[in-house]
Amino acid sequence: MLKIAVLVSGGGTNLQAIIDAVKSHKLTNVSIECVVSNKPDAYALTRAEDNGIPGVCIRPKDYKDKAAYGEYLAQYLTEYGIDLVVLAGFLVVLPENFIDAFEGRIINIHPSLIPSFCGEGFYGLKVHESALSRGVKVTGATVHFVDRGCDTGPIILQKAVSVQEGDTPEILQKRVMEQAEWIILPQAIQLIADKHKN
Ligand code: GAR
Repeated sequence: MLKIAVLVSGGGTNLQAIIDAVKSHKLTNVSIECVVSNKPDAYALTRAEDNGIPGVCIRPKDYKDKAAYGEYLAQYLTEYGIDLVVLAGFLVVLPENFIDAFEGRIINIHPSLIPSFCGEGFYGLKVHESALSRGVKVTGATVHFVDRGCDTGPIILQKAVSVQEGDTPEILQKRVMEQAEWIILPQAIQLIADKHKN
């Protein structure tokens, strides 16, 4: 059984996609052990509670520096016996000590086809605003391993989504979520679960 922690900052629709995939047995040998938010009012925490998953808010600003935050977060997830950390709309740049502690065991969903529209400052709706401003005809989503860089780690899965005439950033965001993110994030977790022993 692959024990995962899902880190969130907002609405948690990607978290919901993982929960639904586990419940419907599309995702097997995976257990969602806990949900961690950096925002106390994130709706994702309500989704966790509604589904009987322990949820907690851990805020970087409550720690003396980034390293202290990273150390606490790593210790917290280690106590849960977490095998894989899933960043699902988590908008905090993780401290290096945390990334080192979970090296090769952190994945992230990004709402574009990396290396387009990624890196510092590209998150949430901003990604789709930039894609529309550039006039791309195809965008999509990427699941990748997290390394010390920003959106630079090895790519696991990508899925393309077409841009349509008259799209707003909100409309495009919804299409990318429905047609790509909610599909490839559970798929990527399954790929890792399939390789995980016991
Ligand atoms: C998703 O579109 C996710 O890809 C994006 O934030 C949204 C969170 O939505 N993540 C990033 O932009 C990371 N750079 P959700 O809370 O409904 O899953």
